[in-house]
Amino acid sequence: MALLSSLAVASDPSPSQDFCVAINDPNAAVFVNGKIGKYPKVVSADDFFFQGLNKPGNAANRQGCNVTVANVNNLAALNTLGVSLARLDFFPYGLNPPHTHPRATEVLFVLEATLHVGFVTSNPPNNMKNQLFTKILNPGEIFIFFKKKEGLIHFQFNVGKMTAVAFDGFSSQNPRVNTIANAVFGSNPLISPDVLTKKLLLDNKVIDSLEAQFS
Ligand SMILES: *[C@@H]1O[C@H](CO)[C@@H](O)[C@H](O)[C@H]1NC(C)=O
Repeated sequence: MALLSSLAVASDPSPSQDFCVAINDPNAAVFVNGKIGKYPKVVSADDFFFQGLNKPGNAANRQGCNVTVANVNNLAALNTLGVSLARLDFFPYGLNPPHTHPRATEVLFVLEATLHVGFVTSNPPNNMKNQLFTKILNPGEIFIFFKKKEGLIHFQFNVGKMTAVAFDGFSSQNPRVNTIANAVFGSNPLISPDVLTKKLLLDNKVIDSLEAQFS
């Protein structure tokens, strides 16, 4: 019997050279999958350097959460390397709302305070329920949010009365973020309430008020 196996690509493809530091040129006429690289002889140590992740992001926003990223868009040397980093700051009861990263698995490390985190599996077969994997994390603890196909929905919630700090490693130079509520209730133009009432089993008025919060 033939054994079928499929090749799983768990992160960005590997580089074909030591490094390929991105050129910061939004007007470049050539489109590539990733970014165009600098001529290697003009690359210097500063191209591999980033600073400021010791400073908290300002979480004084509606969610009480701020994400500071170091990815290929502000650290050009990450181009083609398949990794990036983020710092998460939470106010007390701040929330990084349910979202996916279409391109990356995420390793979350809690530095300060207590986070309630979780991810939900994609739709299982035979009308089984999507499964929630959840955990309360304390300083020094790590949780994995893994990418399967387009990335699983996950969240991080500060359940303590103190501000929380965490760091995220990603298996992509540019993991991207897809925040579920923004996509469903805050699109431009808005999704018709008729579409949302049917699946979410909610009254039209509830959908209107949810959409109003995102527009
Ligand atoms: C996150 O913090 C930075 C630095 O304080 C600030 O410039 C930015 O506006 C904040 N972002 C959000 C979404 O609050």
